[in-house]
Amino acid sequence: MHDILPDRVGLWQHIEDTARAVFAAYGYREIRTPLVEVTELFKRSIGEVTDIVEKEMYSFLDRHGDSLSLRPEGTAGCVRAAIEHGLLNQPQRLWYRGPMFRYERPQRGRYRQFHQIGVEVFGLSGPDIDLEVILLTARLWHRLGLQALRLEINTLGDAGERQCYRERLLDFLRPHADRLDPDSRRRLETNPLRILDSKDPTTQAILAEAPSLLDGLGAQTRAHFDALCAGLDALGIPYRINPRLVRGLDYYNRTVFEWITDRLGAQGTVCAGGRYDSLVEQLGGRPTPAIGFALGIERLVELLGQVDSGANPSVDAYLVALGDRAEIEALRLAERLRDRLPGLRLLVNCGGGSFKSQFKRADKSGARYALVLGEAELELGVVGLKDLRLTGLSAGQGMVGEQRNLDPEALIAVLAAELS
Ligand code: HAM
Repeated sequence: MHDILPDRVGLWQHIEDTARAVFAAYGYREIRTPLVEVTELFKRSIGEVTDIVEKEMYSFLDRHGDSLSLRPEGTAGCVRAAIEHGLLNQPQRLWYRGPMFRYERPQRGRYRQFHQIGVEVFGLSGPDIDLEVILLTARLWHRLGLQALRLEINTLGDAGERQCYRERLLDFLRPHADRLDPDSRRRLETNPLRILDSKDPTTQAILAEAPSLLDGLGAQTRAHFDALCAGLDALGIPYRINPRLVRGLDYYNRTVFEWITDRLGAQGTVCAGGRYDSLVEQLGGRPTPAIGFALGIERLVELLGQVDSGANPSVDAYLVALGDRAEIEALRLAERLRDRLPGLRLLVNCGGGSFKSQFKRADKSGARYALVLGEAELELGVVGLKDLRLTGLSAGQGMVGEQRNLDPEALIAVLAAELS
């Protein structure tokens, strides 16, 4: 679990603000659900024999002896809320954001508290909404200036088709059981589809000959998937069909997809999701088709950090004040500037200090301008303005360069022009 320090927060806010704007552009509305749900909800949705439920949940008994868990993902809570509040009598396009918790083995890109931004759409069953959801993610990458992501898609079929495939896969894998990696061997009887996901080279080699789920699809599933592929082609979204793409959560059927990068090492999946048409009913709601995805903010932050250092200065101006009278007047001036210039990010020197030390702080703050208020300026009724990028102060040389003395109104006009 990580602290997110102020230097990095700018990137987080940039991702969150961009996502919010993209969601608004598609008419998606935000939903906020609790961080804690009854454990049973996750067992019934994510699946009893998944890694998440078997070994990664932070579960505890509350004072009444009820088992609760920190949410390991957002879909289950969203479905619960949608059923509970009667949201499902019409299509819903929802999004959410927030921390999720999984007791995983921490490594680069994999944390125990991490943050997702996710989308869940209810009540729409056609491939057009699958396409919309993917277009929305593509627009998000575009707005963030990310190019290094590739789209992989697959279809998991419907429950019956998956069951048949499971049998075919088991028939194929059983004779190779003793050569499978230990995790895959364990999954053989519980969750054999997850073996397709194994990174072990020997298991991968065995899987090269495995039957493909795509071969056993019924006509409806096939048509849905073909329509999605045709739509992606028509709209110019490149993708790769990956028949080994299975997801670590049990609720999926039909379309699944992931956005992947090679730039983050082993944890290269930045965004993942798919259809889950049976989950609402399984959790007690009326049958309602659904599709969604979630992206990992930490992974996006790391990826964006490679493009942009995130070192945008967080202030525009630093107000230097020398002398008791000036200190009070500086606070008064700062309030006036904030009243008049709502976008201005102004840092007032607090704690005194010589002109030189205050200028050093101004320089360190990254501010473009230093505003100067000393006895001389107070006598004249002016404020000094120095452009720190022009004065050579950024090289730590001390006070050189031009100071313009402006009356407060003229200063406001200059700063307003600068901010616009
Ligand atoms: P997921 O694949 O478990 O799906 O997680 C989605 C994304 O969250 C991953 O692709 C990754 O970027 C990020 N993520 C997951 N675990 C971690 C971790 N331990 N540390 C850092 N990032 C992580 C879901 O959670 C589904 N609820 C997605 C969904 C929504 N499907 C339909 N609707």
